[in-house]
Amino acid sequence: MKPSREGEPRVIEATFVAGAVDTKSLLPPTLMEVAFAGRSNVGKSSLLNTMMQRRGLARTSNTPGCTRQMNIFEVRCADGLMVRFVDLPGYGWARRSKTERKEWQEMIEGYLVNRACLRAVVVLVDVRRGLEEEEAQLLAFLALPRPVSEARPLEVLLTATKVDKLAASARKPALDAVRKNAGADVLGFSAMTGEGREALWARIRAAVL
Ligand code: GTP
Ligand code: MG
Repeated sequence: MKPSREGEPRVIEATFVAGAVDTKSLLPPTLMEVAFAGRSNVGKSSLLNTMMQRRGLARTSNTPGCTRQMNIFEVRCADGLMVRFVDLPGYGWARRSKTERKEWQEMIEGYLVNRACLRAVVVLVDVRRGLEEEEAQLLAFLALPRPVSEARPLEVLLTATKVDKLAASARKPALDAVRKNAGADVLGFSAMTGEGREALWARIRAAVL
């Protein structure tokens, strides 16, 4: 593990605690949760590894559809903050059967709607693809009021991944386009360079504290 640069949130402990195949197999709601959602191959698991400073803890792959259950991690930071990260299976991967896609959709939507300890959802979009139909639908879905009683609404943190793949001059226009289409702020992120890690941690921290 690389030592943290000054000011970066230092992760003391990050552990895989469960792989849930349905909402019944989730853990007791003893910690705040942050979920990571986005189409297959967008870089959810890679972003999680960067956030947790653990290479390979969340399995990543070139093949879309790598994460097929809700993978749950518990993270403890140097300042005592504890949070659960939930790596959701990616959507929009056509090669799954219709039944399987329907089951996943029900599982993910059920979790997002009913999980009272869920504080924030990080929605990932590939900076080169921008916002597409599925992302727009997901953002609209997350904006709906939830039946679970809560003091604060769900925080939605829109994040554009793989910014290292764009030339420096192309980044700002690409991020501006996502921002405009979403009508929300967007954070640029790269699992390759670590860009955006500190800013995303700051937003997650604000959402769970
Ligand atoms: P599923 O589990 O299939 O839903 O995919 P995922 O969203 O978890 O994607 P994953 O993290 O497995 O990454 C998919 C591919 O994109 C891998 O080959 C990663 O190495 C690559 N990748 C992810 N993030 C970045 C990034 O920030 N920059 C670059 N250059 N490649 C990335
Ligand atoms: Mg994954």
